[in-house]
Amino acid sequence: MRQIQSRIDTGSAPFATNAEASRELAETLSERMRWAIDGGPKRQRSIDRHLGRGKIMVRDRIDMVIDADMPFLELSTLSGWGQYDDEVPGAGIVTGIGTVWGVPYMFIANDATVKGGSLVPMAIKKHVRAQDIAAENGLGVIYLVDSGGAFLPLQDEIFPDKDHFGGSFYRQARLSAQGLPQLSVVLGGCTAGGAYVPALSDEVIMVEGIGRIFLGGPPIVKAALGEIIEPDDLGGAILHTEVSGVSDNAVSSEKEAYGLLRERCEAMNRRRVTDVQDWVDVAEPEPPAYDPAELYGIISADDRIPFDATEIIARLVDGSRFSPFKPDWGTSIVCGYARIWGQLVGIIANNGIIFSESALKATHFIELCEQRRIPLLFLQNTTGYMVGRDSEAAGIAKNGAKMVAAVANATVPRYTVLVGGSYGAGNYGMCGRGFQPRFLFAWPNSRIATMSAETAQTVLVDIRLGGMKGDETTPEQVAELRREVADQYETHSDPYYATSRLWDDGLIDPVHTRDALGLCLRLAAIQDEPAPGPGLVYRM
Ligand code: COA
Repeated sequence: MRQIQSRIDTGSAPFATNAEASRELAETLSERMRWAIDGGPKRQRSIDRHLGRGKIMVRDRIDMVIDADMPFLELSTLSGWGQYDDEVPGAGIVTGIGTVWGVPYMFIANDATVKGGSLVPMAIKKHVRAQDIAAENGLGVIYLVDSGGAFLPLQDEIFPDKDHFGGSFYRQARLSAQGLPQLSVVLGGCTAGGAYVPALSDEVIMVEGIGRIFLGGPPIVKAALGEIIEPDDLGGAILHTEVSGVSDNAVSSEKEAYGLLRERCEAMNRRRVTDVQDWVDVAEPEPPAYDPAELYGIISADDRIPFDATEIIARLVDGSRFSPFKPDWGTSIVCGYARIWGQLVGIIANNGIIFSESALKATHFIELCEQRRIPLLFLQNTTGYMVGRDSEAAGIAKNGAKMVAAVANATVPRYTVLVGGSYGAGNYGMCGRGFQPRFLFAWPNSRIATMSAETAQTVLVDIRLGGMKGDETTPEQVAELRREVADQYETHSDPYYATSRLWDDGLIDPVHTRDALGLCLRLAAIQDEPAPGPGLVYRM
């Protein structure tokens, strides 16, 4: 494949302006991540109490389980951001992918220093999302359980619906039946529904003195039966390991628990990250020829100024090598082949508005990748499909629909990164959340909404004024209405608003994109070949 020849002048004034703005965004992202990890009101008191009980912080627990030579890909660190009066950083739960003896696992670990590890609505959404990722990517799940169960004041938003608490147990039972190991280490009280996380696990380790499992805790037992009983006598590690058999092992410390868990994982007989399957084309990985840090200077500080998708690709892929498909037709979408961590991937990236030709080109390219069994990567930066008389007359609706249908029906693994705007139906055609890519990450400069705040002001204000026919409206009232709409759109299209609600799997610093994608692609590469798609290629 040819090496992309960059046209970026890294010494230019726009590059410097963009770089400064991007670095500020990256700085804000890292500060907010830090806050989610160990900040928040009242948190220090909880942390001190947690450590004072001899317990280990949640991310240190994960570090004690995973292999030292592979990084942990944490997901949705900023879930819950700006919600719940800012009292539930990270939604009180950590999820992510790490390897144990080279085998990748999904980790679902409660953070007991946040509301006792109880699950707020975004926490259950994160737990269920992690299980869905595990199911699709063939990952076993390690549950580090330290949770007060459902966050009771919001139980109506956690308990009854399909993807609520019940849905997480449903998934757990089915993951196990798929042959994906479900392993629990019990590090806190597992009460009521919480008891089913270990009870539904294939193997359970309990830590004496801190781990407890009961359907009803001592206060409930006292109220219901008049029995007065100590927590460990009701559901401690010794009782459950030596008497009830709910647990398989009791250990005296967390350190011992993680050592034993690793020992169990050593005998799991599962594929390692190095066990790439025959259907996948993997070459020797090489770093991009252009420094990924230059992405900072390419992403426009002003989101109305477009940036060239090929320049982004040059800083993500191996050797900055890229073989473009139909480079001279439908140029507002760039399609082509490249490698990330050595793994072949078909890339579809926006260069602004999607026209009929661009939609048809992308559809043709998806069919090629389907036929050749090449995973697809979507880099979203679009204001959507082209509107207007000419475009409608040229059939943009049906051409856009072809692309949307091809994306929806592709069976090869699909991945999406929001590198800029994700507006309107462009979000659908470019494999937005509704199209269930295996992973969806976003950059801190990204925006997601039906339309931009600027367009929304005009559209919504016109609609509202239309409905007020005959009523007197002053220019001041119109201006106020415009401001209201713009503010609302600005707030709701902010990437932190999106990531807080798990519309993505995490905001990532652009320079980390390549490694995040490299690992995600590798998870698919060690799985069996996905079910075949239609295999037919129509020239568009
Ligand atoms: N719902 C709402 N809040 C909960 C909660 C729950 N299920 N479990 C714990 N919390 C909150 C506490 O109110 C407290 O909040 P604060 O920091 O704002 O004061 C915080 O979590 C810490 O709880 P606390 O009891 O002080 O901590 P602890 O470490 O001594 O005990 C638990 C932790 C989880 C063992 C204990 O809180 C507990 O038993 N919770 C209830 C469990 C339960 O019955 N769940 C039923 C689920 S269906």
